[in-house]
Parts: sequence; C-alpha cells; structure tokens
Amino acid sequence: MFFPAALGALLLASCAADKPQDKPLKDTFADNFLIGAAVNVDLVNGADPKGDSIVSRHFNTIVAENCMKSEKVNPAEGVYVWDDADAFVKYGEERGMFIVGHTLVWHSQLAPWFAVDSLGAPVPPEVLKERMRNHITTMMTRYKGRVQGWDVVNEAILDDGTYRKSPFYEILGEEFIPFAFQCAMEADPDAELYINDYSMASPAKRDKYVEIVNDMRSKGIRVDAIGMQGHMGMDYPDFNEFENSIVAFGTTGAKVMITEWDMSALPTVNTGANVADTAAYAAALNPYPDGLPAEVSQEWNDRMKKAMDMFIRHSDIITRVNAWGTDDGMSWKNNWPVPGRSEYPLLFDRSYNLKPFLTEYTEK
Ligand code: XIL
Repeated sequence: MFFPAALGALLLASCAADKPQDKPLKDTFADNFLIGAAVNVDLVNGADPKGDSIVSRHFNTIVAENCMKSEKVNPAEGVYVWDDADAFVKYGEERGMFIVGHTLVWHSQLAPWFAVDSLGAPVPPEVLKERMRNHITTMMTRYKGRVQGWDVVNEAILDDGTYRKSPFYEILGEEFIPFAFQCAMEADPDAELYINDYSMASPAKRDKYVEIVNDMRSKGIRVDAIGMQGHMGMDYPDFNEFENSIVAFGTTGAKVMITEWDMSALPTVNTGANVADTAAYAAALNPYPDGLPAEVSQEWNDRMKKAMDMFIRHSDIITRVNAWGTDDGMSWKNNWPVPGRSEYPLLFDRSYNLKPFLTEYTEK
C-alpha cells in the first residue's frame, strides 16, 4: 500500500500521541508522600519544555536547585538578586505545588562576603549573627505564605558525628544551628523548617542529628523535618543503616524527608555529597558514555525499587520524597564528583521516559 509521505508522517505522529501517558507519580504516591524534584533556572524559564512537562505532570513539590543559595541570591551584603528565585516560586505557585526553599545556612555556595570582613578575616560572632538573621529574615519574608518549607541548615555534621568546621561553626560554635532555626521561626511562623544532610546512614551522624533535634525541640525550637539527602550509588549506602536512620529520626517527633534523591550507576569515587570533594576525570570512571548496558540498568532499577519500597514502608513519617533533578541529562551527577561523565541517576532518562522501576508502581 502507498501512503504519501505527509500522510505517513501524520499517522506516525498520531501513533506517538496515542501512546498512553504514565500515570502521574503524584497520583501514584498520593497516599504515601509528596513527590518532587529539584528544578533549575532553565526549566523554570521555559528553556527546557520537556523537563517542564515532566515536572508539571508528575510532581506536586519542587525545590530550588541553585537559585536560592546565598552566592546567587545575596552575592554582596545588602544586595539581593531576585529574578531567578522569584521565577522559581511563581512556577511552583502556578502549578499549585508545595515549594521548598534551599538553603539558608550552608558552607557551600556561600556568598563570599558572608562570614568575613573587608580584609577577608572572620567577622566577630555578633556580626555573623546579624548577617544570618538579616539573610534568613529577608528570604523568608519575601516568600511568606508561598514557600511552605525551608532547608534552614544544610550539611552541618560530618560522617563521624562531629561538627563540620564551617565558618558558621568556627565563629559561633554549636549555637549557630539553634540560632538559625530561631531566626527562621520568627521570620515565618507558618513555614516548615528542615535540617538537611547527606550520608545520613552513618550511625555516628545519625546519633548526632537525633541529639541536636531532640535538644532543639525540647527547648521549643521548631525543627519540623530531618532531611536525608539520599545521594546514593550502587554500593552505598547500606540500606539497613539508612532504614535505621529513618526510624531513629522518627523518634524525635520530627518528620523525615528524602530531599535530594539520586543514585549513581557509575563507579563510586565518593560516598558523600560535599560539593568540594571532586576527583579528576579518567575514562575508567566513565564506562557507559553511550547508554547503560541492560544488566547494569536492571541492577540500578532493582536497587531504586528497594529504596522506594523502604520509603513507602515508612510513609507514616516520611512526608516528602524529592529527586535531585528531573532527567538524567540535567543531573548534577554528570559533573560531580567527576566532571564529564554520563550518569543515569534520576527518575527519568535522557529521553524523558520514566525509569522502569517506577512503572511497577504506576501500572499497579
Ligand atoms: C548541587 C547542584 O545540583 C549543582 O548544580 C551545583 O553546582 C552544586 O550543588 N547537596 C546539596 C545541593 O544540598 O545543594 C547540591 O546541589 C548537591 C549536594
């Protein structure tokens, strides 16, 4: 049979359009938790329409991947650059999403002026406190009633349970954490407040967070959830220890959130997620530049399903599961900890298709 080319193209297009769409993840997991992703400026500004269609269809919560970090939004004292953060909040609002601000107090991507004087020396404690209060209050006041949750303090504790020697800790000591939460509580009493970190399966780190959160909550300082970033790989974390942490965090009375979920399919060079801990490129570290072999993909999907089943088992205390990005092509993991690798860590592949482990839930 002969079809004119134009008619053939039309038929092909209509077949593609007829392909049933996946059930939205937000409906699939509606009884379990909010489900979302970190979004970047391109997506919010319309430069990634396919990413936008995934987020709009599947997610009911978003977090700012970079645009609310102090180096971006508050690059000099008293100077705020709002365009990207405003666009992010507007994007979420137009879609009726639960919007999370990330992050108020963090050693990485910290605005260069924040903790030093004009000569580059550490500022006195009272000056740093004033700057923290100003920053937290300005951010939270601008988005009051629109951003429903904030990562107030990010990555304060090391894997061995000791405090990270960040400028905040070096200048203020342990007090910087309750102080930040106190400022946040006062700035927007209705916003949820989170403490967030990676490698939360580490027993020493777990114990320290339980202690810190119990201590703050016993003093009436609100910590509404403990965020477990959830940057994973094929050989870390130990899921038993991860689950022990979920349970331990639940004992504080705070909720638990999986805040930055992704799983590297590549050789592990770093089990943490400290942005400064990078390694040089080597071809052996980038074994799948042209796509994941079927057996590796299977293994990855099996492990992601195990993680998701663990989150579902604890959905009485886990209230949000958030991937750190939309599709594999835009993941930060393509350039961290090793630059220039082809990674496969997210819920959607480079062609914006849902990963197979998720269709086991959406097709139920
Ligand atoms: C990452 C972003 O995804 C990258 O685009 C950026 O270059 C570095 O930061 N933990 C966090 C996130 O809390 O803010 C980090 O995001 C990843 C690790």
